[in-house]
Amino acid sequence: MKKEIFVSPSILSANFCEMGGAIKSIEQAGAQWVHCDVMDGLFVPNITFGSKMVADIRKITGLVLDVHLMIVNPERYVEEFSKSGADIIVVHVEAGEKTKEALEKIRACGKKAGLSIKPNTPVCAIVPYLDLLDMVLVMSVEPGFSGQKFIPAALEKIVEAEKLIGKRNILIQVDGGVNEENIKDVIKAGADSVVAGNMFFLADDKKQAARILKGWD
Ligand code: DX5
Ligand code: ZN
Repeated sequence: MKKEIFVSPSILSANFCEMGGAIKSIEQAGAQWVHCDVMDGLFVPNITFGSKMVADIRKITGLVLDVHLMIVNPERYVEEFSKSGADIIVVHVEAGEKTKEALEKIRACGKKAGLSIKPNTPVCAIVPYLDLLDMVLVMSVEPGFSGQKFIPAALEKIVEAEKLIGKRNILIQVDGGVNEENIKDVIKAGADSVVAGNMFFLADDKKQAARILKGWD
């Protein structure tokens, strides 16, 4: 049997005035997670939303809330996003000097801890933190915006991450430019979870989009 792929549509590509409907559309499509891209205008050149958005989404869905923090010194905000109802909190290894503290805080809050690497960051950057991780997020675009083109070098990074993870119980997530053209390669390389912004939210048939992202069609 094929392994289950956790599909995490990014609400960054949704209309923020229609967020309730966007969450419903994720549920109805059969996607399992909701990807919340938090950006501070410093770590990335874009600003999105904070923990209030996550808390309000938590009130209307039981789906797994997968919060991708693209902010500097993320250890400052772990408790806040944890209280808002995040299930998985992902920080960037490039975001400051206190990565270990951030990951320990996430686990101390009883949440799943993720560590993300930007396209130019070598996969070996995750090694010092492996025992603190539930997920590794391999970025396949420069973080900051949805709708960018998938960087194929991410595929080798997935394979390398899988080798470094070994027998540990750590998922690999891929984020950025994932679509019907590259999904098969992304899954074949070893991804356990895929994020999709534009591919999902611009699709007329979101059920079909979710099926494709799970590797079913
Ligand atoms: C980029 C974000 C991604 C992005 C995905 O910084 O982390 O989650 O919204 O959007 P697409 O799938 O359109 O690249
Ligand atoms: Zn993201």
